[in-house]
Amino acid sequence: MESVSSPSWWASGVLYQIYPRSFQDSNADGIGDLRGIIDRLDHLSDLGVDALWLSPVFPSPMADFGYDVADYVGIDPIFGSMADFDALVLTAHARGLKVILDLVPNHSSEQHPWFVESRASRHNPKRDWYLWRDPAPDGGPPNNWLSEFGGSAWELDEATGQYYYHAFLKQQPDLNWRNPEVRAAIYEAMRFWLRKGVDGFRVDVIWHLIKDDQFRDNPPNPDFAPGMPPHAALQPMYSTDQLETLDVVAEMRAVLEEFDNRLLIGEIYLPIERLVAYYGKELKGAQLPFNFALLSTPWNAREIAALIDRYERALPVGAWPNWVLGNHDRPRVASRVGEAQARVAAMLLLTLRGTPTMYYGDEIGMPQVPIAPQDVQDPFEKNVPGIGVGRDGCRTPMQWDSSPNAGFSEGRPWLPLAEDAARDNVANLRADGQSILNLYRALLRLRRAHPQLTRGDYQPLAAEGDLLLYRRQHDGRSLLVALNLGDEPVSAASDAFGLDGEVLLSTLMDRTGERIGATLDLRGNEGVVIGPAPEPVV
Ligand code: GLC
Repeated sequence: MESVSSPSWWASGVLYQIYPRSFQDSNADGIGDLRGIIDRLDHLSDLGVDALWLSPVFPSPMADFGYDVADYVGIDPIFGSMADFDALVLTAHARGLKVILDLVPNHSSEQHPWFVESRASRHNPKRDWYLWRDPAPDGGPPNNWLSEFGGSAWELDEATGQYYYHAFLKQQPDLNWRNPEVRAAIYEAMRFWLRKGVDGFRVDVIWHLIKDDQFRDNPPNPDFAPGMPPHAALQPMYSTDQLETLDVVAEMRAVLEEFDNRLLIGEIYLPIERLVAYYGKELKGAQLPFNFALLSTPWNAREIAALIDRYERALPVGAWPNWVLGNHDRPRVASRVGEAQARVAAMLLLTLRGTPTMYYGDEIGMPQVPIAPQDVQDPFEKNVPGIGVGRDGCRTPMQWDSSPNAGFSEGRPWLPLAEDAARDNVANLRADGQSILNLYRALLRLRRAHPQLTRGDYQPLAAEGDLLLYRRQHDGRSLLVALNLGDEPVSAASDAFGLDGEVLLSTLMDRTGERIGATLDLRGNEGVVIGPAPEPVV
């Protein structure tokens, strides 16, 4: 079903996430910055994406690398100045690139002046801006809620004799979103950036904003098993995804609606059926509640086809889908599915119905980098070591060229580079016509050339063995996408699926223009887009 007749920029566009610490360093301190990003905008234009989303660049003690915000309307000196930020917005816009910021409203840094005041005394006017509770009768925490990063989610403040709640680190106290003053303050911060021309926000852990007003204990998780992160021992029934959260999301959207053409994205890890509630009543919530299902679905044709069907079916009427393959919290796709399948994954991401979000470096097949214990930076790994929750491996410096540190920095990078960075980098892969980078570029061009891919319906055709086959149709014209999710060849009878036309693109970049015969034969780990032959140019 066609839901958006004249799609907004974010519906037809492709989003690209930058983790600013790791994109490009311009002052040799080993940490990426805003000037560095400006210097690398050529890469984004050359790739052909439409918008960049920056992980947080606000002043922060960096306990959680910027997800602990000490000032919602400033820029951390490590990333540059407000003038640098303004220059980034100006330069990006001049190139037709939108800029999306990361809003972190669930919690602030413990060093935010709001929290400093709040903890000063029980009677401070800002006391109720955070979640303070008396100890349980035995003096322990007020309830059993657990921090996502290990341990109790409550921290005792000796001086005032109460506990405060932190869903993440104790340096990240949760704000009280039931307090209208808190809401007003964050909405003002949003307006500050929107007035500067920012095109939207990705809202951090938006499903956490409101907690149960009675702070009831969370029930145990019957599926908990050793090796899982400790917080998974409980089901977060009372600490996340409360109905009232949807009112807050609608309010945030209303703030964006005061401006033209802005985008609200929600970071939400929930089962699909709950996730889609965040589109809001009458679609007045988040335009894009992030769909992370591909990050955890087993990589085979049947499971992926079933996931797409389930998601398409769950979408409210008129809601616009979206897909994500990687981010700064999850293992790199190239390591999860393997180098060969990473190309198939790229074709899947960029040919499904809905807005794709790419993660920096995935376009050059960056791997999950092993991090030696002495190099660990991520507080999650430090608190819960050894079970594989560490996020440093997907946050390593972008690989630009074969110069020292792959061109990322003239100083010592804050995280190690991938072993093969001198070979697998933007400069080398750009020069190799069949590289994954050129595949991404070709896929992005194909999307621009064919409204079937940006606006068409999705029609599942087959999920048999390793073959995943679907059609994208718009205005009576179709494209077919055939993906081989395995490493053995597969074939499909053309008649059975109406496979007609020619190969517009193969993930192996060597079949363009080939006519489809009686069978479509795919090599191992190959995907193709098939469509009518392009009109001859006269
Ligand atoms: C989100 C961010 C993650 C951060 C957490 C706490 O999940 O993506 O990086 O650690 O929120 O802010």
